[in-house]
Amino acid sequence: MKLTEGKKIISLAGGLPDPRVFPKDDLAEIASEVIKEKGDRSLQYSPTIGVSDFREELLKFMLRKGVKVNDDDDIIVVTGSQQALDLIARTFIEKDDEIIVELPTYLAALNAFRLSKPGITAIPIDDDGMRIDLLEREVKRLKWLSRRIKFIYVIPVAHNPTGVTMTLERKKELLEIASKYDLVIIEDDPYSYFVYDEGVDTTPLKTLDREGRVVYMSTFSKILAPGLRIGWVLGNRYVVNVLERAKQTADLHTPTLTQFIAMEALKRGVVEKAIEKARQIYKVKRDAMLRALDKYMVEDAWWPKPVGGLFIMVSLPSYDIDTKKMLPEAIKAGVAYVPGASFYANGMGWNTMRLNFSYPSPDEIELGVKILSEIIAKKLTGKRVRITPMSFFKQENI
Ligand SMILES: Cc1ncc(COP(=O)(O)O)c(C=O)c1O
Repeated sequence: MKLTEGKKIISLAGGLPDPRVFPKDDLAEIASEVIKEKGDRSLQYSPTIGVSDFREELLKFMLRKGVKVNDDDDIIVVTGSQQALDLIARTFIEKDDEIIVELPTYLAALNAFRLSKPGITAIPIDDDGMRIDLLEREVKRLKWLSRRIKFIYVIPVAHNPTGVTMTLERKKELLEIASKYDLVIIEDDPYSYFVYDEGVDTTPLKTLDREGRVVYMSTFSKILAPGLRIGWVLGNRYVVNVLERAKQTADLHTPTLTQFIAMEALKRGVVEKAIEKARQIYKVKRDAMLRALDKYMVEDAWWPKPVGGLFIMVSLPSYDIDTKKMLPEAIKAGVAYVPGASFYANGMGWNTMRLNFSYPSPDEIELGVKILSEIIAKKLTGKRVRITPMSFFKQENI
């Protein structure tokens, strides 16, 4: 965002919502009412755990969405789910702990976790999500090394950066492994609202979990507006209590005013309407990007078809291309993207790039992909290989 701010550039970089999906009129009306009629509370300090009426509204929203809420669960409002990732890292990860993530995974989660200096084990994903067979192998290895595994962090539905979704079978297997080895799962779910294809299972891990070992988090950033900075965590009381104490020192509480606005938006059905509109707009854009990639992208480049979410992750067919080094050239040519290496906890993925389709228009998507493909084509020399996250297990490809 820093690189592209103020420049006339096609940004396929950040995960920005299309501003057309912000329900501006509804929010303006709500904000005005919330200040004029409820200003004594909405402009005041509020509890660290969140405004209680809002937390109740959130619980109802979770139930409508099919997220199971256990009797000993509680909910805490956070300043964007990024804060939840930071609080989890600061409170639960001790030095020398091990955490398990997907390969690739959300880069800002990795950055948050890394601050607490854990060992990170990354399990490759394929079109069906995390490879659970490899997960069990790695868990056994870590146990054999007497490593303390703190949690498994996953984005099961419409994964960032690849858009793939874990099948129901894999989700069940993941929970079985968590149960067998007594592990906690952090389920990050910003994108299950945006699944574009039929027949995709979006059951949350939290709903399938019978043992209370899943901590679920989501956010208003993509379903209403990221500028409100509101996310939430649903987990057992102990977890929520630990997060609450850490949050108290971080920022006392999430802004009361935006909690009131989000609460009213939930009550009045504004959120559900915004989700529906966004889903329609993003599906068109996802299809536009897939078409542009098919038309222009160099031969042998590879990308999983995202069933949802806001991104497509492209792997270039040569380890000779470093997309981080290529970025200044692309920006000069008028297009930005996120170099893929930052999503790879194992230090690889330098030949990959994450492309966002929610923000640019379909025309910009087509032009952006065309420009990128031309830059890449000029750089392609030497051996070409089909590179997937799984390829990193095949030494002959490196
Ligand atoms: C997987 C994932 N988790 C968390 C976040 C953070 O979202 P926010 O802090 O805006 O709620 C994002 C944002 O893009 C994301 O993609």
